[in-house]
Amino acid sequence: MNLTEPNCGLKYLPSTSSSQSKPRSPNQELLPLTAKVNSRDCLEIGGCDITTLVEKFGSPLYVLDEFTLRTACRQFRDAFKTYYPGESQVIYASKAWNCLAVCHIVSSEGLGLDVASGGELYTALKAGVSPEKIYLHGNNKSVGELSLAIENNCTIIVDNWLELKTLAQIGLDRPETGPISIMVRLTPGIECHTHEYIRTGHIDSKFGFDPNDMDEVFIFISKQPQLNLTGLHAHIGSQIFELQPHRDLGEVLAEWMKKAGDRGLKITELNVGCGLGIRYTETDDPPSIEEWVKTVSEGVVAACKSRQLPLPKLFSEPGRSLIGSSCVTAYTVGNRKTVPDIRTYVAIDGGMSDNPRPITYESLYRAVVANRMSDPLKEKVTIAGKHCESGDVLIKDYQLPETTPGDILVVMGTGAYNYSMASNYNRLPRSGAVLVSEGEANLILQRETYEDLLRQDLLPERLVID
Ligand SMILES: Cc1ncc(COP(=O)(O)O)c(C=O)c1O
Repeated sequence: MNLTEPNCGLKYLPSTSSSQSKPRSPNQELLPLTAKVNSRDCLEIGGCDITTLVEKFGSPLYVLDEFTLRTACRQFRDAFKTYYPGESQVIYASKAWNCLAVCHIVSSEGLGLDVASGGELYTALKAGVSPEKIYLHGNNKSVGELSLAIENNCTIIVDNWLELKTLAQIGLDRPETGPISIMVRLTPGIECHTHEYIRTGHIDSKFGFDPNDMDEVFIFISKQPQLNLTGLHAHIGSQIFELQPHRDLGEVLAEWMKKAGDRGLKITELNVGCGLGIRYTETDDPPSIEEWVKTVSEGVVAACKSRQLPLPKLFSEPGRSLIGSSCVTAYTVGNRKTVPDIRTYVAIDGGMSDNPRPITYESLYRAVVANRMSDPLKEKVTIAGKHCESGDVLIKDYQLPETTPGDILVVMGTGAYNYSMASNYNRLPRSGAVLVSEGEANLILQRETYEDLLRQDLLPERLVID
């Protein structure tokens, strides 16, 4: 392969004529850590040839690299051990990708899980995650969701007054369950540079208690022995490349920890959320997991020290940075349309239903042609999905080698907020997912069938005309 002209424009891809190529160093690339180019000039991940995977499992196909995912789990866990002098617990924000296999892998690495609905909670429990390591989020939890968490001894991250009062009542109504473990989520009032839809820390946010309410919240909780408040939580947003807002969050949370103490509440846990960005394109330059953990740890330690507070158990909730880079999506190339003097569209067999991020947040992605990895870049094309929506474009005006129908296009960095935000728009069955590791590929999400699409459909008798 010509290193100056790899088909994705990524200069780090190994030049190789065999699958002996060296794995590349982390943080240098957009593909999962085990990516190689094999002797057939095809992309291999986890020792599995992507084109063979598509032949066997069809496309679109999410390909999740177990090694990359486990490596990220360990990086978070070990970095906290290195940089935070107190106790710590990393909990995976499972909204990024919640399914049995992912919950199981992450929890087997010692991580806890945050869940944002009854469905995510149910999946985590079925995956065997220890309930005491599960934290329930949500700005409008139902009584059913709260009850499921309470019955399983999970911790509830309380978001608002209605929920707090509901929990206080549930605690009174069901004394046999014992005190309900809660943390309180507050809006920290920290602005950061990310898309408006994934900002959560600014004051005008639907999440968490307004700072003006916090004193009253502490007074209320101090009078409810059926509620066991262990900690405070705040999250500033997602896909953030700056470190300073994360450091500032330590100050904000420590100050509230002190104020809770003034109201007689002993807070022993702080949860700083996450939001660390990842590389979707070659120009993205996020801090490393280590840098992020170091910053957060130092911020919390300094903030507690200056207020003479004991170090809390420190929780973090990475989603995207834990799983985003460990997955790619493989598509089959189909139709091509050239609009003279404007652009050429190359259509693939998925799109906004398996990856809604470009149409939702104008997110950028990069791709390679997996069956001809060393072909030179030849033309600028726009990779279009197959949905009835003009905005269903995955990558706009992007240099690729010449593609023909049947080629396998691999979009990188699709581990976070792709499957979990997938839909059946246009009644496309949801894509399957395989977990790859050391040459083995295991189906972890079955591709939906047309029958699956009809499973919940009902045709009222009176509409059926004989
Ligand atoms: C409360 C909370 N915690 C954690 C996360 C994970 O964020 P990220 O995937 O950016 O790490 C999110 C996502 O926005 C969130 O809302």
